Amino acid sequence: MAISVKSEREIELMRMSCKLLADVFQNLEKAVKPGMSTMDINNLGDKLIRAHGCVPNFLNYNGYPASICVSVNDEVVHGIPHKDHILQEGDIVSLDAGLIYKGYHSDMARTFGVGEISEEARLLIERTRQSFFDGIKMAKAGNHLFDISNAIDASISPHGYGIVRDLVGHGIGTKLHEDPQIPNFAQRRRGPKLQAGMTLAVEPMINMGRADVEWLDDDWTVVTEDGSLSAHYENTILITEGEPEILTLY
Ligand code: MF3
Ligand code: CO
Repeated sequence: MAISVKSEREIELMRMSCKLLADVFQNLEKAVKPGMSTMDINNLGDKLIRAHGCVPNFLNYNGYPASICVSVNDEVVHGIPHKDHILQEGDIVSLDAGLIYKGYHSDMARTFGVGEISEEARLLIERTRQSFFDGIKMAKAGNHLFDISNAIDASISPHGYGIVRDLVGHGIGTKLHEDPQIPNFAQRRRGPKLQAGMTLAVEPMINMGRADVEWLDDDWTVVTEDGSLSAHYENTILITEGEPEILTLY
């Protein structure tokens, strides 16, 4: 399938969708504290999205039962919020969310520390973030998609972390998941050529230990097989002739 190239009008709608989502995240980040349940975070996020007059795009997506994915410690992504799952000092929590504004989707994720966290957890979060920025240095018109994948891999590999291979980034627009798929590990081929007006969700998921993941019996929660911590960093970006525009930054 072809990768959609957005018109100026569509890009404006994507910008607004992403700006509203970034605002939601800014408020969620402030709210993350020991003692809060993962369901409290979901409920706050859901409320903030709807207060903008938007709709959470994750809710009921392929049957996903919540508005915000809340993944704690060895949970990689798609953690389901529970009222009896209480965040503890020293946990790390990955929040992943998106919304629909006038038919246009946004998607982003961050991993936050709960209170004081270990130095190794802090480094995992920081290096995951850095790999996103190293990856998108390659994200410009005329380059190839897998230049991004290769740059993320090169950023992470020296640290010996596991790059999750079972989940990838994606195009985004009038649907949450559009073509292309964007792996976070090195590729042999170059992939499709990037064009100005493409909007992509680039989202490295990095494990402190091995790359392998497994699915819990709830059919959603993805966890590291070796029980090691995992971090996630995602933004929706716009490809231009020059530097990419990071639409979900705050
Ligand atoms: N945020 C995920 C992604 O980045 C999608 C989550 S879909 C849900 O692609 F159903 F789990 F919410
Ligand atoms: Co995504």
